[in-house]
Amino acid sequence: MKKNYRFNYNIDKKLKNLNFGHNSKVIWFFGLSGSGKSTISNELEKLLFSNKIATTVIDGDDLRAGLNSDLGFEFKDRLENIRRVSELSKILINNGQVVLCSLITPLEEYRKLANKILNRKNICWVFVDTSIKDCISRDPKGLYKLALKGKIKNFTGIDQDYEIPEDYDIKIDGTTDPKSNAESIIKLLDKIIKHEK
Ligand code: ADX
Repeated sequence: MKKNYRFNYNIDKKLKNLNFGHNSKVIWFFGLSGSGKSTISNELEKLLFSNKIATTVIDGDDLRAGLNSDLGFEFKDRLENIRRVSELSKILINNGQVVLCSLITPLEEYRKLANKILNRKNICWVFVDTSIKDCISRDPKGLYKLALKGKIKNFTGIDQDYEIPEDYDIKIDGTTDPKSNAESIIKLLDKIIKHEK
């Protein structure tokens, strides 16, 4: 068998999109830990679900508890985390899904890798812009407290960089109402995922 042999499935992305009545897309929420990515993603999924859109959620914390539990937070591990999520998302969009990913994705290099694997046009980048000061005061998991005491190393925004993105589709102020933020995103998505039958 050839190394990169791929079976040619008859029910392809185009047919799945037609059947589901919408296009596939990756909505990639990125921002600091505690910025509100998962909360906004949750609100967005509720809106998509009520519009009968087929969604799959990929959350950094869930993956790191299971599929990616072998990875840490060094540069190479984060890159591998993003690579796996991108490859998994690629499979899912080929299966007609709207994929909601929530990962810190702190560096441009990681974002570029996702664009390379998935193709920029398949991703809607949602920058959840919440300042480090606000994330520290929220500290929903108590991790900033530990990172500031030096008990957790390589923590994004404390002893590891978070690069302000050069490229994104929508910027959300993570300190404002998650429901209205989800509504702004769905307005943007409406044009992108609506399928003209
Ligand atoms: S990413 O940088 O590779 O995109 P990812 O989103 O998967 O990160 O995981 C981030 C989550 O892991 C955080 O929300 C937090 O709960 C947890 N975490 C544990 N250690 C760290 C750390 N050193 N830096 C950032 N997040 C950490």
